Amino acid sequence: MSANHAKVVMHRCGALAQISDDPGQLTRTFASPAMRRANKLVGSWMREAGLQVHEDAAFNLLGRWNSNQRGAKTFLLGSHLDTVRDAGKYDGPLGVLTAIAAVQSLRERGVTLPFNLEVVGFSDEEGLRYQTTYLGSRALAGTLAAADLARIKEKQIVKARRPHGEFLGYAEVHIEQGPVLEKNNLPVGVVTAIAGQSRLRAKFLGVAGHAGTVPMNLRHDALVGAAEFVASVPSVASACPGLVATVGKLEVAPGASNVIPGHAALTLDVRDQTDARRLAAVRRLRAKAKAIAQRRGLKLTWTPVQQTAAVQCDETLTQMFSKCVAQRGLKVLKLPSGAGHDAAALAAICPAAMLFVRCKGGISHNPAESVKAADVRVAVEVLADFISRLANAA
Ligand code: GLV
Ligand code: MN
Ligand code: MN
Repeated sequence: MSANHAKVVMHRCGALAQISDDPGQLTRTFASPAMRRANKLVGSWMREAGLQVHEDAAFNLLGRWNSNQRGAKTFLLGSHLDTVRDAGKYDGPLGVLTAIAAVQSLRERGVTLPFNLEVVGFSDEEGLRYQTTYLGSRALAGTLAAADLARIKEKQIVKARRPHGEFLGYAEVHIEQGPVLEKNNLPVGVVTAIAGQSRLRAKFLGVAGHAGTVPMNLRHDALVGAAEFVASVPSVASACPGLVATVGKLEVAPGASNVIPGHAALTLDVRDQTDARRLAAVRRLRAKAKAIAQRRGLKLTWTPVQQTAAVQCDETLTQMFSKCVAQRGLKVLKLPSGAGHDAAALAAICPAAMLFVRCKGGISHNPAESVKAADVRVAVEVLADFISRLANAA
């Protein structure tokens, strides 16, 4: 039966990948027309699985299976439906569709639950639109900061807040986005912790001028300053094993071949499992940018956009995932996540745990993302077993 569920999940990941804001590549960004269409399609699959569907004020898609026990609390399953630019098919959607498949499988087994079960497709894990991430899951958790709201148009998302104490926990299935499971020849792994992240914006301001007339020693070229900074990021990061730092976007203005760039703005993303190490690296990077700007006669603006602390997964739920993996005759491999996940936002209000699924070559944030149906089958089975165990333990 679950082979069939896995096939459906694979097919649905393919169908969802056709829904994009950009022609010719997969891009779905917070509250965009493609996100609305994706929610509609996934909502129809939720209904097929017997869930009651609605979209909240933060554009999260929710499908609910009500327990027949009065006053029951709710357990959440989910992941996100937004994507990066030119994304793969599985980062996010796999977790939502695996959860729907697990619900379907539990219903076929005639399971009744002592808690309500809600499947969520979160609206913004990647943060592509505003650079600030987890807008959907933090709106639901009620942990949005005033600075997030100041940055976005959709102020009503605060209304998506759910009462604290309503949730028993949250579980998320996600592709690993790294090579560890593949190296260990395992279909799934249990996540121990999620790295913290700092997202920032830096701008170098110089003087735009004529590319043919201003001598090299009299230039204040913003792009050359930014380029020197970008080139310094790998060495600052590598000095701290485990820490990663990335400049993912660079905008140059005015942007003409015969004009010295007067303006260069870039994004910076810094991650580590230890918050103090991450914050120290951000301070070192800032000092580096300042020194470069000073030496080149440029102005620097340095704007923190968002910081998310590292999060430990809940021990009890993690153990439950481990038991379900072992029950399938598989070695239990525990691993931390370098990527961010909605689970990190949910961990602020309830116990949260994650199960990773092997992906080919550890590749993600790339259209080449690939998973095997046989591994998805294991994930559906483990997630359904996990809910059954929770129900029995309640
Ligand atoms: C999301 O994939 C992130 O970790 O940025
Ligand atoms: Mn993701
Ligand atoms: Mn991602």
